[in-house]
Amino acid sequence: MRTSTRTTTTYLFTRRAERDRAPYGEPMRGTTPREIDPAGAQAMLSELFDAGADRLAHSLGVGRRAEHVARALDRPQLLVTAAYLHDVGYAAAARDTGLHQLDGARYLRSVGAGPELTSLVAHHTSATVEAGERGLDTTLCQEFPAPPGELLDLLTYCDITTSARGETVSVDERFAHIYDRYPPGHLVWRSMQHAEPGLRQVVARIERRLERVAR
Ligand SMILES: [Fe+2]
Repeated sequence: MRTSTRTTTTYLFTRRAERDRAPYGEPMRGTTPREIDPAGAQAMLSELFDAGADRLAHSLGVGRRAEHVARALDRPQLLVTAAYLHDVGYAAAARDTGLHQLDGARYLRSVGAGPELTSLVAHHTSATVEAGERGLDTTLCQEFPAPPGELLDLLTYCDITTSARGETVSVDERFAHIYDRYPPGHLVWRSMQHAEPGLRQVVARIERRLERVAR
């Protein structure tokens, strides 16, 4: 872990993580779930991803998008924190099963994040579809019960309307990029094909809500 950019927030976060770390798959004992705020989430990202990496740019872009959505629709900070951290499962420190939603949720749980945050990360952007492809759907749902649908949809909306480099894009552009990145037939490509109709419905629903409040 790089120490030059370590902030007080992440230092405390890391110290606690080192003390309380539990093996993946087991709930921590004797600790109180911690609330991570958006600033702490951003500091954590800078520890987990290299500066300039696409994953970092995308995560920051999704977080900024969620800040806008949370303000416009009067939704809680939890949405913003989850948006910044939704892809931590891609970080080397978190990668394990290859299902990034599950790996991210487990990583966050291992450093003390509470169930509201971990369940959002675990289920974002139709995670159960790819989990089914990987034979991990039962594991995912047993370890992390589904979060409130409305917040999950808002998080998924922010993800699906933010490019790999963090810019706001249309849902068509986003799917085009995803299908471009993975070869046809790849597990992620197949999962996206299955999930696409439902994801488009989520985006259309949220866009209607945002249009209504913007009038
Ligand atoms: Fe994402």
